[in-house]
Amino acid sequence: PVTVYSDEQTASADVAKRIASLIISKQEKGEQAVLGLATGATPVKVYKELIRLHKEEGLSFANVVTFNLDEYYPMKPDADQSYVRFMNENLFNHIDIAAENINIPNGELAREDIEDFCLKYEQKISGFGGIDLQLLGIGRTGHIGFNEPGSAPNSGTRLVTLDDLTRRDASRDFGGVANVPTKAITMGIGTIFKAKEIILMAWNEKKASIVKKAVEGELSSDVPATFLQLSPNVEFILDTDAAVSLT
Ligand code: F6R
Repeated sequence: PVTVYSDEQTASADVAKRIASLIISKQEKGEQAVLGLATGATPVKVYKELIRLHKEEGLSFANVVTFNLDEYYPMKPDADQSYVRFMNENLFNHIDIAAENINIPNGELAREDIEDFCLKYEQKISGFGGIDLQLLGIGRTGHIGFNEPGSAPNSGTRLVTLDDLTRRDASRDFGGVANVPTKAITMGIGTIFKAKEIILMAWNEKKASIVKKAVEGELSSDVPATFLQLSPNVEFILDTDAAVSLT
């Protein structure tokens, strides 16, 4: 289903509320909530609202385990553009999550260790019983995570090559496209698909044309997000600008 909100703020507050309800219902059962998280501009207001719920309404993340979608490769965790740094600054430093419950693909691995790391990442997710709720943004190439055009629907966590458009979109953060890594480690489309619930968020008219393709377009690995149409557990949460081209 597609849900259109008047603006990003209202939509983000609603997504945060749903995450909070999941965390609380798991707490009541003495269970952990397993969240799949995204970086980038799209989820920032969701994370802000989760921080507010923690600070002002006592929401605890003590029973939360997180798996991030992706990380650039190579990337040092303390670099400005690292997704480790992004998550710490935008969420983890401000809530009571246990450090050992945070999982982000490691951008510092030796090349020969990546395959094993990716397999273990998958196994660790399964070991927690799978992801309860996966947050996604969408790139202008139609990528989810860093599953660029050409990604297979059953792909797992792996090293991928970033699309040129993705690298250009990231160039501002890196002070020029030449500094953007050419590779990343990402959960696969198959990994994402196993989540019990998936929320893809998109704001802004810059996303309108790719959102139209993702929601209404023919299934194709040319636009990896189209595969989400196959899952009954996906919800597209949009603001009016991102939804403007939908029929
Ligand atoms: C980030 C990720 C990417 C972004 C996408 C949109 O972890 O996996 O798929 O969600 O590139 O980025 P923003 O939100 O910056 O427009």
